Amino acid sequence: MLNTPTPELLNQLKQIVGPSGVVDQPQDIAPYLVDHRKLYRGATSLVLRPESTEQVSQILKLCHAHHIGVVPVGGNTSYCGGATPSSAGNEIVVSLSRLKRIRHIDPDNYTLTVEAGCVLAEVQQAAEAADRLFPLSLGSEGSCQIGGNLSTNAGGTAVLRYGMARDLVLGLEVVLPDGRVLDDLNALRKNNTGYDLRDLFIGAEGTLGIITAATLKLYPLPRTRVTALVAVDDPAAAVALLSFLRSSGSDALSTFELMPRIAIELVCRHIAGINDPFDDTHPWYVLIEASTAQLTDHLTEELSEVLVRSQQNQLVREVLLAQSSSQREFFWRIRETIPEAQTRAGGSIKHDVSVSISDLPKFIEEGTALCKGIAPEGVMVIYGHLGDGSLHFNINTPDAGAHPEFFAKKTALNNAVHELAMRYRGSISAEHGIGQLKRDELVEFKNPVAMQLMHTIKQALDPHGIMNPGKVLAGD
Ligand code: MLT
Ligand code: ZN
Repeated sequence: MLNTPTPELLNQLKQIVGPSGVVDQPQDIAPYLVDHRKLYRGATSLVLRPESTEQVSQILKLCHAHHIGVVPVGGNTSYCGGATPSSAGNEIVVSLSRLKRIRHIDPDNYTLTVEAGCVLAEVQQAAEAADRLFPLSLGSEGSCQIGGNLSTNAGGTAVLRYGMARDLVLGLEVVLPDGRVLDDLNALRKNNTGYDLRDLFIGAEGTLGIITAATLKLYPLPRTRVTALVAVDDPAAAVALLSFLRSSGSDALSTFELMPRIAIELVCRHIAGINDPFDDTHPWYVLIEASTAQLTDHLTEELSEVLVRSQQNQLVREVLLAQSSSQREFFWRIRETIPEAQTRAGGSIKHDVSVSISDLPKFIEEGTALCKGIAPEGVMVIYGHLGDGSLHFNINTPDAGAHPEFFAKKTALNNAVHELAMRYRGSISAEHGIGQLKRDELVEFKNPVAMQLMHTIKQALDPHGIMNPGKVLAGD
């Protein structure tokens, strides 16, 4: 059972961070009370902005002793309300934004040690300044923070080549719920010394402690990038194209993103400066990127040759190869502005599912039929990371009106899409996490033994349940 902090306790907490780390005026607290998608509205009387791991440790020690709920927040870009406090108002919020030092870069070891509050784009820039690549890349990289990326095991558009956030971490520094600091900031590729504690905290969404720093894996900085936008008849052709590209020796492939015609129409309509780059209209499109550390023309030649062959055997209808960096940016803008265009077009019911890549075409067909059966007025906007088997399976309102009758079907649509994902042994959250949005559904859709193990771990590390209460798991 969690308590409400007394005025004395609030004062003690404020003293830990000093006046520059205290946010306690309603107008300053307000941005922390609403999530990125404006699905949740919470309450709190105090936001703390510690500037060191030691201060985080003292905060958690005190909250643990007094059974006070703590909600960690990074860039507040969660899609699942993962960083919004409950409306009860008895939790305190801990923002990591002042922990933003680049602690160490080791170009020869290909590692970078950063604090949790570094913005993802700053991490990428620090790597680039040392002629290295930190490959995690997301639409919100200008504002999301690396601590949040790791806590939610973020995905993005380069997972095909480099993996999820989890795959990009070697070591972590974590403050445990009772204030102890787990200093596991190792920079080792090989370390077989028992349970992998690091992977417990990645993807835990702040429910097991607060990640304060991480040692990240770096890669050679690409000097040649080849980007293509291609048109295909259907998702099955896109899957076949991906297989063909891979078997033709395209180890350099880093991005393979599927987009439907409606997404092109939405970005052309709602995003300034975007127009359809193709001569004809096509039902589906794929953004493809390959890269290498070599400065070479070979990659362009290889990719265009494979795409020409794909066109000859009817797998691909039209091919546009980016001829300049501005054309590359334009192709990327089309893909990256889909979520914004979708929001401008109206409301949407979103799903973030994954299945095996080979099952995606059937999943899209069956899922579309199910959703259309429930909400014939809905507009299917299905796009995403085909190369990872991960799709944003969204259903939009027909226009920007309120459409309460459409939103009344939300649970039915969620169930239909998620049950279908389960039939394919898929996931109801490929990359956006659970937060509070999918907490109750998780119980329905995750293996019961796995749920028991998660509760066992939570109980062992956070016996009072102070860490990010009500996220991922319901209270015991
Ligand atoms: C994306 O892939 O664009 C995001 O993960 C989904 C979104 O912003 O809706
Ligand atoms: Zn995505």
